[in-house]
This record gives sequence, structure tokens and C-alpha cells, in this order.
Amino acid sequence: MSIEIKSRFPIFTEYPDLVYLDSAATTQKPDTVIAAITDFYQRGNANIHRGVYPLAAKATARFEASRDKVQRFINAKKREEVLFTPGTTAGTNLVAQSFVLPRLQKGDNVIITAMEHHANLIPWQVVCQQAEAELRVIPMSTKGELDLKAYSSLLSPKTRMVALGHISNTLGTINPVEDMVLEAKQQGVPVLIDVAQSIAHYPIDVQALDADFIVFSGHKLFGPTGIGVLHGKEEWLHQMKPYQYGGDMIRDVSFSNTTFAGLPNKFEAGTPNIAGAIGLGAAIDFLNAIDRASALSDLKHLQAYAESSLLALPGLSLIGTAKERTAIFSFALDDIHPHDIATFLGEEKIATRAGHHCTQPIMDFFGLPATTRASFSIYNTTDDVDRLVQTLAEIQAFFS
Ligand code: ALA
Repeated sequence: MSIEIKSRFPIFTEYPDLVYLDSAATTQKPDTVIAAITDFYQRGNANIHRGVYPLAAKATARFEASRDKVQRFINAKKREEVLFTPGTTAGTNLVAQSFVLPRLQKGDNVIITAMEHHANLIPWQVVCQQAEAELRVIPMSTKGELDLKAYSSLLSPKTRMVALGHISNTLGTINPVEDMVLEAKQQGVPVLIDVAQSIAHYPIDVQALDADFIVFSGHKLFGPTGIGVLHGKEEWLHQMKPYQYGGDMIRDVSFSNTTFAGLPNKFEAGTPNIAGAIGLGAAIDFLNAIDRASALSDLKHLQAYAESSLLALPGLSLIGTAKERTAIFSFALDDIHPHDIATFLGEEKIATRAGHHCTQPIMDFFGLPATTRASFSIYNTTDDVDRLVQTLAEIQAFFS
């Protein structure tokens, strides 16, 4: 991590002692993202796609410029394939209800993995219940690696969707989504990839990946909360019915009938999170301006340092030890309750998350009620690791 990058995040100037290890929950925001949001409300606030006065036209232009930035960032073929949503969860629900449900018959199936976040589990469980279809789950090993042979055998002519998390928010596992997409494609099965945990660090090229849909949130990408992206292949988006109905998504309305706008507006009912989209655009500008390859290489070094430092603590066990992992560490420490650990850490200004991390089936699999999770990002340092490990040793001493 370069000091230059950390200095771009004002929260660390405000709280110099803060050790922020909860970036899997939400990332901190760089100065330019905060400035873009403030600037919009101070100098640019107006609704979009409606007013003809200059302020409104400028707001529309800034909002749509963010869509162009997202398009280039993920290498989407067309800007119309980039839909703004409130976040990852909203994108997945939209695809489940508008794309999968109309295609799902009794006896069909949807495939997910054993390590999905609830946001990539419950929407599929619900559509399967609605259609009397089967939710199939790719099992994983105790290391937190998917059983790819089982995946092959779960795929069938009746599979209507494969929905995969790229990186597990709880275990840090990086799943081989490229190969898994290829295998699904060979059987003509559509794929959705949740890249919420990967997009901040790994380049996502939707054309190379060739998934039918990808979803992510702005706030895990150094942008604001309440804004996210659903990328979908144009042919599917054209076929899908709107998910929500209201203003800004129509062509013509009467009491007897409504015709809908084209892409992307058809899926963006109501006044959207304009400042959020502009903030997300600023986050993308921020990422484009830094050396992402070297930021990732620094993060990998930090990950290796954190892993060896944590494992040097007697009584600490990592939950999730896949070969391909990112800098997300769930752990157990002796038999100390994770909430006690996170509370103690919090008093020492070290921010971690304790709980089931919205992945209760993972907790059930490992027979744990909860874990403590430390998740790292581009602004973390080896000093942060040292403070974490030293404080964990103090916690052990306190509880022994
Ligand atoms: N999905 C977020 C997390 O893992 C909220 O903490």
C-alpha cells in the first residue's frame, strides 16, 4: 500500500488511529468521491431525464456520464446494458424475478454455491419455491473450495440459471468463475456472477467473462451506498419485463395501457440515486487514476503478511483456507465469542465484523454460530496487521 493512496481517504485524517478492517462490508471513500457528491448537491442538484432548464440538463449529463464510465470500466459492449440499481441485492432480485421466474417450470432447477451471501441465495430460493423448481447447491470442502465435479453433475438440461459469487465475503475464496461460466455455456445455461467482493481489486471484463449478468454495489468499490450496477446482455434485457413500474421508465401511458421505455430506462423506475451514480463515476475515475496492478500486488503481499501473522497466534484458526483466496480472513480464537472479540477490538479502534456475515449456511457447515472477520483493502498497512494481532493476543490474555 502506498501512503499516497491512504492519504486520499479523509477518514484516516479524521481518525489517525483507526485500523479499518471491514472493507468487505463497505469500503472507505476517497476525497474525490466525497467531493463529487457534495458538489452535486451544492452546485448541480436537479432531477434527471425530465427538466429542460440548464441545471437539469447538466444533472442528466453527469448521471449518464457515470453510466459511460461504468460501461468502459467493465468493458460492456453497450451503455444500454448498464443498469443502475440500489445495489447488488436489487440487481439479483431483478434478474430472479424478471428473467428466471418466467422461464422456470416445475421440475427445473437453479444452481448456486454453498458459500453464497444471502443476497445470492434467497432470491433464487424464492423463485424456486414460486415455480416448484429445485435449488441445487454446489458443495464445498472444509477449505472452502467448490467441488467442481459436483458442479458438472448438477448442471442439467433443466438448469435455468447458475448464480455464482466470484469471491466469498466470508471465506475469501476466489471461485474459478471463468471455467464455471464456460461449462454452463456449453450446456446453454445462463450465468449470473456476483462480483461485489472482487470488483474493487480485480479487473472485470464482462465480454471476456461472458456471463449473462453481473451485479455489484458502488459502496464496496470506494463509491457511495445505495447505488449499484446490473450488467445484462442486451438480448436478455430486451426480453425481460420491467421489475418495477413508475415514472421515467415509460414511453406512453393511459388508463387502459402503458408502453415502456427502451434500455436502460425500462428498468430504472422512479427518481434514481443521482448523487450516488455520480459518486460511483468518481470512484471509477479514482481507480482509473491509480496503478491498479500494483495496488493488487501490494494487497497480495499484505494478505500473505496478515495470514502468517494471524496463524502465529496459538489458538487462532482460519475459517476458509482455499488455495485461491483474497485478503478476507474469518477466524475463531480459542473459544472466545466473536462478538466479544470484535467489541474489544473496536475499543482499541480496530474495526472488524463479527457474526454470520449474511452467510448462515456457511456457519452451519463449519458448526459455528459466528466468526470474526478482518477484511483488507488498498489503504491498509502492515501496521494495521500488527495492531490487530497484538490486540488479539491481549484479548486472549484477558479471557484466559
Ligand atoms: N455483504 C457485506 C459483508 O460481507 C455487508 O459484510
